[in-house]
Amino acid sequence: MKKIQISPSILSADFSKLGDEIVKLENGGADMIHVDVMDGHFVPNLTIGPPIIKSLRKYTKLPFDVHLMISPVHKYIKNYADAGADIITIHPEATDDLSESIELIKSLNKKIGVSLNPDTPIDKIKNILSKVDLILIMSVYPGFGGQKFMPEVLDKIKTLNKLKINNKFNFNIEVDGGINFENSKFVIDAGADILVSGTTIFKENEGNIKKNIETLRIS
Ligand code: DX5
Ligand code: ZN
Repeated sequence: MKKIQISPSILSADFSKLGDEIVKLENGGADMIHVDVMDGHFVPNLTIGPPIIKSLRKYTKLPFDVHLMISPVHKYIKNYADAGADIITIHPEATDDLSESIELIKSLNKKIGVSLNPDTPIDKIKNILSKVDLILIMSVYPGFGGQKFMPEVLDKIKTLNKLKINNKFNFNIEVDGGINFENSKFVIDAGADILVSGTTIFKENEGNIKKNIETLRIS
């Protein structure tokens, strides 16, 4: 059985001590750190940018899984690569030329992720599936932590996983939004390789990060 990877979202962390929070995540067994970047334009919320990512880089050797919810994204990709992102995930709606943005991320030697909002069909990105390292399926409308998981995305995960197996594509399937101890098994069974979680990891079991990561991974 494959090992499910956990990418905790620091959106639910204490922003006044992000460095310490990242150390806790690493000690708790996280596989990578999910960084939600929001611009108040592509999504109705504002979070953090390259200087903060750069200052956090020294706290961990874990990969930074940077989810860019910013538009237009293309001209900022290099800033996030330079700040220390390892995986750079973009939304197709946020760039004029998805293939060009993918090529740019590749030229910067970073892993390439493409994200699908709940109402963005797989068809929109079928021509780039062979070129990416990660497909991030959103199971909430992006913008905020703590939203309710949308069960209708399970079919999309299954369809994407079938496409991946039938065509021997190499990307990982990551799922983001509202993942908890009840729905994680359905997400894993549908074909997810990586689970993103903010609220469950930071708030359940009185904030016992290690226990919450382990429970999500094996459920
Ligand atoms: C939503 C973000 C997510 C989300 C995860 O826009 O991309 O990473 O905040 O947090 P929870 O697990 O609280 O839904
Ligand atoms: Zn995210």
